[in-house]
Amino acid sequence: MAKVALITGAAQRIGREIAMCFHAQGWNLVLHFQTSEGQANELCEQLNSVRTNSTRLVRGDLSDPACTEQAADHWFSSDQRLDLLINNASVFSAQPLSSIDLAHWESTINTNLRGPLFLCQALAPKLEESNGSIINIADVYAQQPLQHYSVYSISKAGLVMMTRALALELAPNIRVNAISPGAILHPSNSQPEESAWVDSLLKKVPLNRTGNASDIAITALYLATNSYTTGQVIAVDGGRLIS
Ligand SMILES: NC(=O)c1ccc[n+]([C@@H]2O[C@H](COP(=O)([O-])OP(=O)(O)OC[C@H]3O[C@@H](n4cnc5c(N)ncnc54)[C@H](OP(=O)(O)O)[C@@H]3O)[C@@H](O)[C@H]2O)c1
Repeated sequence: MAKVALITGAAQRIGREIAMCFHAQGWNLVLHFQTSEGQANELCEQLNSVRTNSTRLVRGDLSDPACTEQAADHWFSSDQRLDLLINNASVFSAQPLSSIDLAHWESTINTNLRGPLFLCQALAPKLEESNGSIINIADVYAQQPLQHYSVYSISKAGLVMMTRALALELAPNIRVNAISPGAILHPSNSQPEESAWVDSLLKKVPLNRTGNASDIAITALYLATNSYTTGQVIAVDGGRLIS
């Protein structure tokens, strides 16, 4: 029987690449999206045309506690299996300390940290049944702060600690790991004037280039299939954290 992965924020960019990589390896998918309905439908149809009934969609705002608390009941029937949860959805926006307000704090923390925690809580019983695993997509900025992105860095640092804490708590039946990408794709909301800033960040990358979304996807596949790895955070960052 095919294993099943739920990937949040899977309609586009890195989430989409992870979805395509797992599907090509024979996994069935539950693809989560919030606003990117057209892209989610297109990806779902594309994957189902390769393998009938291999992929389905679920929708929800992960910053809304009702969404995460009810995820197990709303997104799965009691006989539907789940082997892997990939917490990929995230928001990323700049806010210098002087202009951080409650709305920015709540949107960032609730989407990037609170949502994944309560999704893990809701889906842990299902993952337990399958001896499954969880992969959290963090960021190198969990370890090294990015100027003007303190709330984002705090949210990802929390996600890294959540990975380690839940790995301990959910062992031996559920493994929990994380990936910390470096510079992979320019932010989807970046302005043309910010591309020079993004390019300047690359000067701090020893491999001297951005990575590919597929580098994140194959790392996720490794973590999903290596049954003796838990509580680990793998940087996929071109060497950014050693520079
Ligand atoms: N891009 C990079 O180079 C890079 C670097 C380091 C770390 N990362 C991490 O890698 C992961 C993927 O990166 P990315 O650049 O592909 O992400 P992204 O495009 O910024 O966001 C992924 C998806 O998150 C979903 N999302 C945002 N807020 C949501 C909410 N409140 N509820 C539900 N879904 C929500 C969106 O879904 P809809 O479009 O359906 O609304 C969006 O498509 C993220 O965790 C990111 O922090 C990326």
